[in-house]
Amino acid sequence: MKLRTLDGIDLRGKYVLLRDDFNVQIVDGKITEGFRIERSQPTIEFLRNAGARVAICSHLGRPKGTRDMKYSLRTVAEYMKLPLIEDCLDKSFMANMRDGDVVLLENVRFYAGEEANDAEFARMLADGFDLFVNDAFAVSHRAHASTVGVTKFLPSYAGLLLQSEIENLTNVMEKPTHPVLSIVAGSKVSTKIGVLRALARLSDVLIVGGALGTTFNFALGAPVGNSLYEPDMADNARDIMKYAAENNCRLLVPLDKGVGPVFEPNAPRTDKDLDNILPGDVIIDGGPKTAARDIDEIGRAATVIWNGTVGMAEWMPTWSFGSFAIARAIAENTRAGKLKSIVGGGDTVAALDACGVMDDITYVSTGGGAFLEFIEGRELPGIAVLKIQ
Ligand code: 3PG
Repeated sequence: MKLRTLDGIDLRGKYVLLRDDFNVQIVDGKITEGFRIERSQPTIEFLRNAGARVAICSHLGRPKGTRDMKYSLRTVAEYMKLPLIEDCLDKSFMANMRDGDVVLLENVRFYAGEEANDAEFARMLADGFDLFVNDAFAVSHRAHASTVGVTKFLPSYAGLLLQSEIENLTNVMEKPTHPVLSIVAGSKVSTKIGVLRALARLSDVLIVGGALGTTFNFALGAPVGNSLYEPDMADNARDIMKYAAENNCRLLVPLDKGVGPVFEPNAPRTDKDLDNILPGDVIIDGGPKTAARDIDEIGRAATVIWNGTVGMAEWMPTWSFGSFAIARAIAENTRAGKLKSIVGGGDTVAALDACGVMDDITYVSTGGGAFLEFIEGRELPGIAVLKIQ
């Protein structure tokens, strides 16, 4: 895929609308994980050094077209030490900008026109700028005004992060080194059917885990207690197992579980084989046999693709056991040069971070939904509009 890039473009004095994805988690006024912001820096620095006048546009959360200050980007602006322009359609700041200046525009989703990809809203957003740069891979699966609409009004280019995401993910999808192991977990089969099928085609081994894995256990007739799973997805799970077998992919389901009496961070943990799960048990993590099996499979793979935690990884240390075992095994094998590893998804990346192994992974994607759609082989609208025809 060839995209329009900034190579050779004269940027000095040009007003650039830069789309970033600063949809980060903020708890008690603090950014808990600045990964997406850090990964956006190279393009910002490139534009700054080239003498552009940059206004960064982003969303945060889902304020549904209202000015709900719970979703203000002020915390991000303070973290990045950038001035915040309190209304993304206000252009008065432009007159005072000098070459190399950078500002952050307030949440673009404060306007309903953003998610509706309203042409008039996109025109107003683009107004006054000379060009548009999309570096927000993580939201490129959304056809919104700030990802697609503005490209009708401005010459539009791919930023460095967007290019790097596409290059790294395309490489692994098009020419992976076998054996390929994919680990797909998280809460729902229903949101991951496409990616499960795509990875079943690509992989030699596909491990399913988390509540998604529990749905597979249920589809195979195992007791699942009072746990989170999707009973109405059992047929889909069976279809995926059949599809994996047809594609010579070994699909592996959880072998045992960490269960508690309630779905709470402080619930006491018992590890149980599937057959011993009682009606009142709540599955909150994978068990030790499953973790040992996962570690073994990781040790035999040449490429690992991982999306989704296999338990409530943020409920440390009791319920992070299974996810941390996977994170550490992937990191160790990658560090030892035995493995190429690709990880994507907010919770999964947070688990890597909590284990302190982010830097050991070959490529960590900033995308959640976008990562899944890209892996699935779908065309992302925010990227499609940047293609050289
Ligand atoms: C994400 O965090 O995956 C992106 O920022 C997209 O957010 P959305 O699902 O609210 O569109």
